[in-house]
Amino acid sequence: MITERSKQDILEAAKIEEVVGEFVALKRRGSNMVGLCPFHPEKTPSFAVSPSKNLFKCFGCGKAGDSVTFLMEHEHLSFPEALRYLAGKFGVEIEEKEWSPEELEIRQLNESLYLVNDFALNYFQEQLFETDRGKSVGMSYFKQRGFREDLIRKFGLGFAPDTTDGLTREASQKGYSLEHLQQLGLTSEHGRDFFRNRVMFTIHNQSGKAVGFAGRILSQDKNSPKYINSPESDIYHKSKVLYGMFFAQRPIRKEDECILVEGYTDVLSLHQGGVENVVASSGTSLTVEQIRLIKRFTPNLKVVYDGDAAGRKAALRGSDLALEQDLNVRVVLLPDGEDPDSYLRNVGPEAFTGYLKENAQDFILFKTSSLLEEAGHDPIRRTSVAKDVLSSVARIPDALKRAMYVKECARLLDMEEASLHSELNKQIRSGLQKKLKDQPGGGKGTAVSDLPFESEIERQENRRPEAPEDDFCELDIARVLITFGDQVFDEADKESIAGFVVRNIEDVFDSIEQNLFRKIVQLTMERVKDKLPVNPFFFIHHEDQEVQKLAVDLLQSPYEISPGWTDRFEVYPKLPEENFFDDALSTVYRLKFKVIRKVIRENHEEMKNISNPEEVSIRLKMHMELKEKASWLAEKLGTVVPPKF
Ligand code: GTP
Ligand code: MN
Repeated sequence: MITERSKQDILEAAKIEEVVGEFVALKRRGSNMVGLCPFHPEKTPSFAVSPSKNLFKCFGCGKAGDSVTFLMEHEHLSFPEALRYLAGKFGVEIEEKEWSPEELEIRQLNESLYLVNDFALNYFQEQLFETDRGKSVGMSYFKQRGFREDLIRKFGLGFAPDTTDGLTREASQKGYSLEHLQQLGLTSEHGRDFFRNRVMFTIHNQSGKAVGFAGRILSQDKNSPKYINSPESDIYHKSKVLYGMFFAQRPIRKEDECILVEGYTDVLSLHQGGVENVVASSGTSLTVEQIRLIKRFTPNLKVVYDGDAAGRKAALRGSDLALEQDLNVRVVLLPDGEDPDSYLRNVGPEAFTGYLKENAQDFILFKTSSLLEEAGHDPIRRTSVAKDVLSSVARIPDALKRAMYVKECARLLDMEEASLHSELNKQIRSGLQKKLKDQPGGGKGTAVSDLPFESEIERQENRRPEAPEDDFCELDIARVLITFGDQVFDEADKESIAGFVVRNIEDVFDSIEQNLFRKIVQLTMERVKDKLPVNPFFFIHHEDQEVQKLAVDLLQSPYEISPGWTDRFEVYPKLPEENFFDDALSTVYRLKFKVIRKVIRENHEEMKNISNPEEVSIRLKMHMELKEKASWLAEKLGTVVPPKF
């Protein structure tokens, strides 16, 4: 293992601009270098390399890190591989240390688990290719399904005979430990073979090692499961593995697209038909880890499912998570009753790929139209369709993409774009609120509530109830400062939004409850005082990790570097960012309103405990003044357009 000191030496010797420069054409701009981001398609450079910080960062897709991160992401090297590459390139001698006994133990255990699985794989293949029963039952099954021998060998297909303990006995004879066989699920606790009389599919990990198996039943027996699988083990983490990924990684990069199907046999058929950029979720819904795995190779996901109701449902289910991870998701539904395997065999590879091309629909639009179909003309159901669709749109990190979808959905749903926008903003906000609450030290654990002045209905009915606590306004202050603090608030005297905000909330600064948001305001105050710009760049690059993370979370559109973003507003009107003035103003009012309400409550509590008439009268006067101020603010808040996210 490479020692810590050696790691340090390598990282220090590695020059980020030279590492990146091998793969990306960089131009100097000020103290930085910029180029086209290799991790996402773009026409104007938003990929920056800082030689002084020895880091890279893309303002478009958000990828950032050092030389090692770059190599791991770009060249798909493992951590030690990246270190070794850099050591070679920059002439650093690698110092290796002995494994610690614990490390050695884990490594050896894993090594031996892989060996046991290798043994099992050989066993299943031997049974398939060499034994009479394997040939007559297993091989003829695969042949009848149309799988060629090269495919069968490549994917490690095999056969588990109908014996009690054939595999277990042979393994034991060869010296493999029973404990390992059991941990891998090959042998039951009673010492019997787990896979019996089934055709076998090998599940490979990222580097092509056999980590588990799936066995398919041969009979039509409805009482046994069609597939049985290896359990989780130290080497098989189901949520991190996609069937076929080992063979698909290169094709996925080449096609810049990953095709997702449901079944093992779908992967095999497509692969054999020349469609190699395909992986399977194996009948379960996708996990975040699986999506991130895909994202290492491409941002484009095409989900191919059955055309029946279950297939539609599955397509809808799997996709929200992928949207959240900023994948571009498209959906293809096959004709009713077909799965990819059967359909490809019916129509042949060429017609099949043609079908995929012609029938791929954008996921959001697919969701909208398929839910609308179900809802028919019932207006109430149509409204809930809108909400449902917007809940998917709200997950998309990119603001421009969101705006584009709102436009399209408004057309499909035949609804006002503006009302969709306001519902969308609500959903985004409650999503973000939830996220913040989930973070340690985030929200205060009170119930998620809508903003007091946001309820149109309440205002119309004019019964203005006691407004619920505004948990969100401190975050909103931070959002305003981070995302558009450098915009001009007042054309006449050129005051910036940041300047306006801090000037107006100075008096309530100490009452900001959440540390992180107070920190943002504090930083802004210092910047304004020093006449330095308060822009996204400043926060994204701030040395404080918490600040950085908040900024990245809030800044989901890359307008900082990409020029012409104002032009794009023309194309997509009603972007939230348009509303700088009203947004900043109402956010300031809200913070003040919140603080005043708190002071009123405290004052009220104090009044309960005092008896000195003079003091009571002072308190009362204070109370009146505060109330007056609060109602002035409430009035303002009623008229100021509520902030849109
Ligand atoms: P074939 O019927 O051989 O074509 O398989 P298939 O892949 O088309 O099966 P199906 O569409 O029924 O299921 C899709 C995927 O769900 C399978 O590839 C399995 O990964 C998984 N699956 C299906 N049935 C079972 C089962 O009984 N148990 C488990 N654990 N997984 C199953
Ligand atoms: Mn099938």
